[in-house]
Amino acid sequence: MGLVTAVSLADAGNEIVGIDTDQNKINDLSNGIIRMYEPKLNELFLKNKSKFTLSSDYKMINEVDLIYIIVPTPTINNKIDLGYAIDASENIQKNNKNAVIVIKSTVIPGTARMIHKKTGLVVISNPEFTKEGEAINDTIHPDRIVIGGSDKKAIDRVEKLWKFTNAPIIRTSNENAEMIKYASNAFLAAKISFINNIADLCEKIPGSDVDVVAKAMGYDKRIAPYFLKAGLGYGGSCFPKDTKAINSYANELGVHLDMIEATIKSNEARIEKVAKLAIEIARISKAKSIGILGIAFKNNTDDTRESQALKLVQKLKDNGNYNINVYDPAVKIMIKGTRQFSSKEECIKNSDIIVIATEWEEFKNIKTSKPVIDARRILDPMLSNVFSIGFGKAKDNEQKTKWFQ
Ligand code: UGA
Repeated sequence: MGLVTAVSLADAGNEIVGIDTDQNKINDLSNGIIRMYEPKLNELFLKNKSKFTLSSDYKMINEVDLIYIIVPTPTINNKIDLGYAIDASENIQKNNKNAVIVIKSTVIPGTARMIHKKTGLVVISNPEFTKEGEAINDTIHPDRIVIGGSDKKAIDRVEKLWKFTNAPIIRTSNENAEMIKYASNAFLAAKISFINNIADLCEKIPGSDVDVVAKAMGYDKRIAPYFLKAGLGYGGSCFPKDTKAINSYANELGVHLDMIEATIKSNEARIEKVAKLAIEIARISKAKSIGILGIAFKNNTDDTRESQALKLVQKLKDNGNYNINVYDPAVKIMIKGTRQFSSKEECIKNSDIIVIATEWEEFKNIKTSKPVIDARRILDPMLSNVFSIGFGKAKDNEQKTKWFQ
């Protein structure tokens, strides 16, 4: 996110000083190397590289007027860990007494105020709403820009910075800006869990298809068509951690966020559901190996943080009765206890049954007559060897689909 923001702002004409405490990352970037997969990032970085000063030394920011904090804010034991954000703000304060801090990391309400108290610096909240895989596009063409704080001059400065996007700008308090981010992510996560509930029901109703239901629902402007794709549930570095963080924060304030709790629970149950289904199909078809297509938490990224696909692999491995094969077009990390393949064809050839766990485009055209669980709804659900999440196969298909009855 830090690099995406920096590159987008550089492309809009700004000079960038980029600090990372990891010297290896700084060295790589200085040599023009980006070790993560994010469409458009590489090209745009190389195009704007001359506008970058990169360093692991905070002294480099002593004359910079706006300093963005874009560091991880992990959820540990269901609670947000603000350690990196506090560390960064203290280092900024030590090296630049006139800095305006802008927090882009996702932080619980009250964090900006706390950092202001700790450092005495002006602190603005400017949360991001970008998706991995489309991060550059979302940053350059956002739906809205939220700027929270009480220092008018600083807010004006941040507004000017993002003017180039032509997006509506919401000026508000720090607390509202922090809350808007959590409420947005929790709402999107809830939409996914909601449609996954409907998918479970559709599977039991021959003739019913969650994709059609979602599409028709989406035409209603109040509902909107986005984030209504049923599947294996949401993963990634944001929804799982943010829903848990806001939930525990609310609990501390004596508030029970029933909807968000249900969202989390329902999402966790997706793994159990698909694992059970895979084991049942494997038992019926006397399979010895299960092939998992897709390991990333979604398509167009090599990110496996909180990946539902990876959790499914773990669950199936824990079962102990099957060889687990995996293939992902972008993920290069080793996945212990599995056999990793460099093509979908090889993975399919060596597996008795297949699960599509990430919605990669290239899985749309797989050719196999082996049993397939389409946990991301990208195949034709009428194919006789395919079990599609959220699709109630009609009675006349019964004969052909014995193995998943
Ligand atoms: C999410 C939000 O979409 C961004 O707005 C936000 O800025 C970001 O978190 C963040 O807080 O930094 P991201 O996690 O990159 O973005 O990815 P999404 O596209 O939201 O997907 C999250 C998960 O939901 C993926 O596992 C995806 O497969 C799943 N998903 C998404 C569904 O199962 N169904 C859908 O309809 C949409």
